[in-house]
Amino acid sequence: MTHAVPVAPPRRLVEFEVDGEKCKVREGTTLLEALRARGQDQPTLCHLENLTPVNVCRVCVVEVEGSRTLVPSCSRPVEPGMKVKTDSPRVRHSRKLVFELLASSVDLSLVDARTRGFMERYGVDGERFGPRAAPAAAGERDAATPGHHHAPEPGVAATVAQPVKVDNDLYVRDYSRCILCYKCVEACGEDAQHTFAIAVAGRGFDARISTEGDVPLTDSACVYCGNCIGVCPTGALMFRSEHELRQRGEWAPERQTVTRTVCPYCGVGCNLELHVQDRRIVKATSPLDHDVTRGHLCIKGRFGWEHVQPAASGPLQLQPQPVPGGAGAEEGALSDVAPAERGDAPKASPRLQRGSS
Ligand code: SF4
Ligand code: SF4
Ligand code: FES
Repeated sequence: MTHAVPVAPPRRLVEFEVDGEKCKVREGTTLLEALRARGQDQPTLCHLENLTPVNVCRVCVVEVEGSRTLVPSCSRPVEPGMKVKTDSPRVRHSRKLVFELLASSVDLSLVDARTRGFMERYGVDGERFGPRAAPAAAGERDAATPGHHHAPEPGVAATVAQPVKVDNDLYVRDYSRCILCYKCVEACGEDAQHTFAIAVAGRGFDARISTEGDVPLTDSACVYCGNCIGVCPTGALMFRSEHELRQRGEWAPERQTVTRTVCPYCGVGCNLELHVQDRRIVKATSPLDHDVTRGHLCIKGRFGWEHVQPAASGPLQLQPQPVPGGAGAEEGALSDVAPAERGDAPKASPRLQRGSS
């Protein structure tokens, strides 16, 4: 039996100019993709390969000859004859200002090294607009009246600082770090989960991520897939395990290993990246380039690993268990089993048990 192989129509090459150099890319390629393919990375905050571009952060802007405004490289497709400048004074000035507005009002201390590098390159001064205003009380920003104008507090920079929301066992929400990039909203909605538990509420500086109807997260439609955590660029959404280790000063990425494996729960075949510190899984992510799930998971893959954690009081051990009718002893799959315990029982199969030693 023969199978039809769908073939996409050929895409013609488009010629354009970047910083004075001619180049060609396939039709439909975005400026960001074209620039990255040339080895010219651009800063991005609201863009991610597995999400639809929303163009809200504007740190990726470039100058296009003939265009009245700077254009977002993350979403603008290359057009024939375009003349693009990626590092003009206007581009640098705009990117610096956007980063400074964000840094003055949001805690950016957990952005990735790449973003920090761009902030250093543009000489971003987070104190440019003065010292930061005092944090809001818990719930204060959530109660802001939409559209109501607040007179600015003189001498200080307004901030979104507020207490961390810890209301469930799986993840925390620290909206002091939220830049309103919309990524979590996209991941919860049309781009991945289709749950639509969260959206942007309010206007202007009061705009914030909120549940539908502003109900507590635990009463919302959230299914705890954690896809919002997976895309958040600032650490505003964080595994509770990571949050607690950070609170105790014990979060140590330099002691962590990342192991790629397949989620054991169902037949979809999602890939997991298990982040392990001191022999405990501290979080699970998923690779963006995986062709089935493209970085997204469900609650089981994202959070369902507590049952393989070693007990706090001792290492994970394999305890030989009798198997009715089994022939001979089976070797444990994990190396943690003490040699003296292996093969002690003549009819055995490996089974996980919390260590007590
Ligand atoms: S955990 Fe999943 S369902 Fe809940 S808010 Fe995040 S993306 Fe939406
Ligand atoms: S919580 Fe994170 S992903 Fe969501 S809008 Fe804020 S910064 Fe973006
Ligand atoms: S990354 Fe392009 S607008 Fe945010």
